Order: sequence, then C-alpha cells, then structure tokens
Amino acid sequence: RTATPGPQLCLVTPTVGLPPTYVPPDLVTLPSEWVAGQAVQLRREAAEALLKLLAAAREEGYQLVAVSGYRSYESQVQVLQQEIRQYGEAQARRQVAEPGHSEHQLGVAVDLATARRPYDLSEDFGTTPEGRWVQQNAARFGFVISYPAGKEAVTGYIYEPWHIRYVGPEIARRVVESGQTLTEFLSANGMAGCPPTT
Ligand code: DAL
Ligand code: ZN
Repeated sequence: RTATPGPQLCLVTPTVGLPPTYVPPDLVTLPSEWVAGQAVQLRREAAEALLKLLAAAREEGYQLVAVSGYRSYESQVQVLQQEIRQYGEAQARRQVAEPGHSEHQLGVAVDLATARRPYDLSEDFGTTPEGRWVQQNAARFGFVISYPAGKEAVTGYIYEPWHIRYVGPEIARRVVESGQTLTEFLSANGMAGCPPTT
C-alpha cells in the first residue's frame, strides 16, 4: 500500500536535496523547559508529538531535552562550517549534511540529549538510559531514528542516536517492522514526496 507522499515524508539524502529557499509553513517554538541552548522550532504536528514524547519520558524518569530542530539552509551552512573547524572536513561530512540536504530543513527532525549532558551529541547517547528509552519508544510517538548504527553506507551518515524525525505513528511503526532505514523505506514504498510543496 502506498500512501500519498506528503512533505513530512520527503526523502532527503546526501544526493536528494531541498530547494535552498524551502521553509516549512507551520513552525512553532518549543517551550523552553524542554530545550537546552538556543530556541528550537519544529512544524506544529512534529512539535506536538515531541512534547508528548518528552512528557512521557519524564513521567518514566528520563530527562530529555531538545537541542536542535528546524534549521534553515543558512543555519545548516553555519553548522557544517563549525563541524569542519572542530572535526575536520572528512569527519564533519560523515555527521553533518550539506546545506539543502538536511532533514532539519524540513522542520520535522530534532536532536535530543540528556538533560545531564545537553550539548553532547555523540554515539554515547545511544547507551544512556535516555537514549535507550528513545530507541524503544520513539516510534509510538511517530518518530524514527534516521541514522541507525552500521548503516553509514546506506544513509550516508554515522550512527546518530540523537537525531529523530517525525513521520507519524503509522509510518514509524511500519519502518520499525520493515527493519529498513527510513532512507530505504521511503524509497521502496514510493513515499519520497520531494520537494515538498507545503
Ligand atoms: N546530522 C544530520 C545528518 C544533518 O546535519 O542533517
Ligand atoms: Zn540532527
């Protein structure tokens, strides 16, 4: 069964990009109590789902914060330059998308961290209690981990346990059941509705 591709299911990869001018239409700012550092914006539906996820985690004793959500083309330029300064070109490109090729520009991807170490976006997040909770529970709130471990050849990026993308609960469940990466799933199911029109 093929769903109608919507902007939330737009495939964005190192080779499939977005127009530099694309800005999602319904960005909202997350309440600051759930955020570390600069303000985080997401599309409304993704923001509402994320707040449910964060509240459920807190209820179970896991303190998660959002550290990066929507990034414009220009802010992705800044992020990539900063990472190149910090890690060098080769490593930076394994973990940060080229401007126009980031799921963050869609306004439905968000980077999470533990409240204890909010600026530490590293593979270690995956082995923290919070990171494990995200792996086990994200799909129920409609999120998938875009860049799973051991899939760099498929996704183009190293394991990013902190980076989740909203696709809605039904698609998230189907992605998990498929055992595929989101990249593979969207391609295989004719859902790569890109570029987004709204
Ligand atoms: N870190 C992911 C790949 C991004 O920059 O969108
Ligand atoms: Zn990210």
